[in-house]
Amino acid sequence: MKTLNIDISHAVEFLEKGSIERLQGDLERHQQALAGKTGRGSNFLGWVDLPSRTDQGLISRILEDAARMQEMARVFVVVGIGGSYLGSRAVIEALSDPFHTMDPAPKAPVILFAGHHIGEDYHASLLNLLDQSDYGLAVISKSGTTTEPAIAFRLLKDHLERKYGREKARKRIIAITDRSKGALKKLSDEEGYSSYVVPDDIGGRYSVLTPVGLLPVAVAGLDIRSLLDGAQHMERIAAKNARLDENPAAMYAANRYALHQQGKAIEVLVSYLPSLSFLAEWWKQLYGESEGKEQKGLFPASVSFTSDLHSMGQYIQEGVRHLFETMILVNQTAKHLTIPRVQDDLDGLNYIAGKKLEEVNCMAALGTLMAHVEGQVPVLTLEMERLDEFNLGQLLYFFEYACALSGYLLGVNPFDQPGVEAYKNKMFTLLGKEGYGKK
Ligand code: PA5
Repeated sequence: MKTLNIDISHAVEFLEKGSIERLQGDLERHQQALAGKTGRGSNFLGWVDLPSRTDQGLISRILEDAARMQEMARVFVVVGIGGSYLGSRAVIEALSDPFHTMDPAPKAPVILFAGHHIGEDYHASLLNLLDQSDYGLAVISKSGTTTEPAIAFRLLKDHLERKYGREKARKRIIAITDRSKGALKKLSDEEGYSSYVVPDDIGGRYSVLTPVGLLPVAVAGLDIRSLLDGAQHMERIAAKNARLDENPAAMYAANRYALHQQGKAIEVLVSYLPSLSFLAEWWKQLYGESEGKEQKGLFPASVSFTSDLHSMGQYIQEGVRHLFETMILVNQTAKHLTIPRVQDDLDGLNYIAGKKLEEVNCMAALGTLMAHVEGQVPVLTLEMERLDEFNLGQLLYFFEYACALSGYLLGVNPFDQPGVEAYKNKMFTLLGKEGYGKK
């Protein structure tokens, strides 16, 4: 078992001398505020020690529900938006075979997502597909009142009840919501769905290791115990270690803050595996909603290389120098493919014949890093041993903890999202919702 490693050597050269060391005292203070729950937003710190205190009874119940769904469903629909779907999608896409939907003898249901937008064609096509497939669903909303998942759930509940009858449909629905408030809680109690609580003290974007993330991940057949073990491993390092040089999460927070202080406005999360694209979406929500307030905050962007080297690569190499990169490197692939040698060598690739694709990808990553640093782009590197539940658990907790420290360094509350209400208020007025004024 290897701990996630951070390499700052390609960023320090862009920073004024001592700018990281100077943050040591502030970081210690912020760690204490997180541990003692004395900082801003301290009623939303339930995620800090969640990996080490997750109840085995809860895990067993999640696994039982997951097994029940695996038994009865070919498709499992996760209804949710923002923090209520991005975490599970990030984990499932990172760890599932990319072509598993074509598997004629799948070991687990295909996980599909709904209610993360209001696209009519998407939801109509989903219902068409579900006409022909046995399915179950999880409806996930902490507030229990979010419009997008509520619309999708209304459609799906109606579909499910027409397909199986009301009584049987109830057994195919799992609700994950607030302990006591919200429309979904009321409905779930009335219908008697199997249900889970989103803890009061954990906000949506920090909820991936609660049933919000764990239930869909378990239905997908992935190992949630190992995911939590990885997170717990990082909890021990990040939340309990004050020394910057021994704490990768604090080191990451310090570097991104120092780069921001010195004029960088955009952080680009880079990965070299397409399976990490949704991890980047999860990360963007975590950092965007946590830091982007009071006219402050780095803008979180992401690219998937080498694909995006043929689109965004030009800008990163030569555009406005207001960005830095955080690159995720995975050391070992799970599968192996070697480039074959061919007699005529018409494509000129014999010079790399015999190499594994991973070796070529690694040289692409190294070459890109060198080119971008030469192009005045600082690069922070996060190195993982391999892509599995344990290492992903480490990475999720690493980003959560570093995000909280980053928000405190910036002087904002990293656990609220007041700006999200603005679009809702305008939309509700336009839709004529009671209490939202005239169009
Ligand atoms: O991080 C957050 O709190 C938000 O992004 C929410 O997750 C998102 O708005 C969905 O909210 P809810 O789970 O209440 O439906």
